Amino acid sequence: MSHAEPAVLVLEDDEGLRSQYRWLLSDYRVLEAGDREQAKQIAAREHPGLAIVDLGLPPDPDGASEGLAAVAELLEIAPETKIIVVTGNESREHASRAIATGAYDFFQKPADPDLLKLIVGRAARLFELEQENRRLAKTVSQMAVGGILGDSAAMQKVLRDIERLARTDITVLITGESGTGKELVADAIHRLSARAGKPFVAINCAAIPEGLLEAELFGHEKGAFTGAVKQTIGKIESANGGTLFLDEVGDIPLTTQVKLLRFLEERVVERVGGRQSIRIDTRVLSATNQDLARLIAEGRFREDLFYRINEIAINLPPLRDRGGDSVLLAKFFLRKYAKEFGRTLRGFANDAASAIRQHPWRGNVRELEGRVKRAAIMAEGALVTAGDLDLAQPEAERSLNLREARKRAERKTIELALSEVEGNISKAAGRLGVSRPTLYDLLAEHGFSAPRESQVPEPTKER
Ligand SMILES: Nc1ncnc2c1ncn2[C@@H]1O[C@H](COP(=O)(O)OP(=O)(O)OP(=O)(O)O)[C@@H](O)[C@H]1O
Ligand SMILES: [Mg+2]
Repeated sequence: MSHAEPAVLVLEDDEGLRSQYRWLLSDYRVLEAGDREQAKQIAAREHPGLAIVDLGLPPDPDGASEGLAAVAELLEIAPETKIIVVTGNESREHASRAIATGAYDFFQKPADPDLLKLIVGRAARLFELEQENRRLAKTVSQMAVGGILGDSAAMQKVLRDIERLARTDITVLITGESGTGKELVADAIHRLSARAGKPFVAINCAAIPEGLLEAELFGHEKGAFTGAVKQTIGKIESANGGTLFLDEVGDIPLTTQVKLLRFLEERVVERVGGRQSIRIDTRVLSATNQDLARLIAEGRFREDLFYRINEIAINLPPLRDRGGDSVLLAKFFLRKYAKEFGRTLRGFANDAASAIRQHPWRGNVRELEGRVKRAAIMAEGALVTAGDLDLAQPEAERSLNLREARKRAERKTIELALSEVEGNISKAAGRLGVSRPTLYDLLAEHGFSAPRESQVPEPTKER
């Protein structure tokens, strides 16, 4: 989840101080302005994440009127910007007025470089978090249409197809591995269609015993068979005016397939044991995670029925082929379940995000939702870790940065040495060819919790 650092607008009339900021904030994209007008132009163009505003600007270098005016105007132009004001020595009151105007934080000149970096870093994190929330809020409102989340090219295509198909009455076959969202897609097509106000009737053809499926689909008259104590309307009939969703369509027995084909061709049903033909206007959607071509080859699925239900196919890609969607969905589910269970969870730790990206997700979105839901209940820290998700620790992020690679190797070697000598620091130091104090320094540097002799230290979870 490495983000580009946000831009920092620096409004400071002193050229020398501006270059100091430039130097101190070399990790950020620094945008310099010498006066309020210039700052406003930059803000309008760049919407920087952060701004540092000197309160003592000319023409009021000893007061704060110009600086406060700048704060107010900048916030009007770019309300999401975190503004940090810089005050002179004796101006606590100015600082609090700036905060009241909407500034995020302040510090006094001359600023200690470390403190400045800390304040700016904290503001940057906050900005990123809020940015992420805004993005999610937007996605959630987009979801109101289909309820289907997905930024990947593959899913964007699916979403476009859904919108297009929803405007027609064409029969659609939705295919995809288990848990990829087939039912969600069927539901979305219905809700986006002109039939939205009418019933959406789903029937899971795999869940109904063979002998009963036909009566379930077509309904039956009283006395049609043993146990038919009253007349019953079938699923097809109850979908009249709306949409019929045949889930697990590959599981329909051959005899019922014949009847279904006839219905699709003639659009009339006869209840089992009845004589009357009833005309039905329904849109038919089907879904399966089976390979229908194979079932046809094996003689278990009728080819003519296949063409009837498959005027157009939507194939849902497995989650592992959807790029960043897994993380996007995970964040969405975490927000949803944290709210549901009344937990304040800030998001995923880095190891969790990489683990989510690397996991094969054989159970697709359903598996992801399940794991995130459990983690939302069980997580102990404010950040959900790979362990909370019960996912394997990810392969160390495949960064090719040499310094990081050396650190990773160093950390692994230390872990190995410690485990071989059962946590005995002196022995581990000996094995590693460093002094004990050096090993202690290394342990601290790598974020191992305070080691006790004779115990393998646990790495701390968040670093
Ligand atoms: N793109 C998505 N955005 C949001 N939620 C999703 C998405 N895809 C699936 N889900 C959620 O994942 C769960 C599984 O989806 P669904 O039941 O539609 O899958 P399915 O393909 O029908 O699975 P199966 O083959 O096992 O019946 C549901 O809770 C659904 O809401
Ligand atoms: Mg399903």
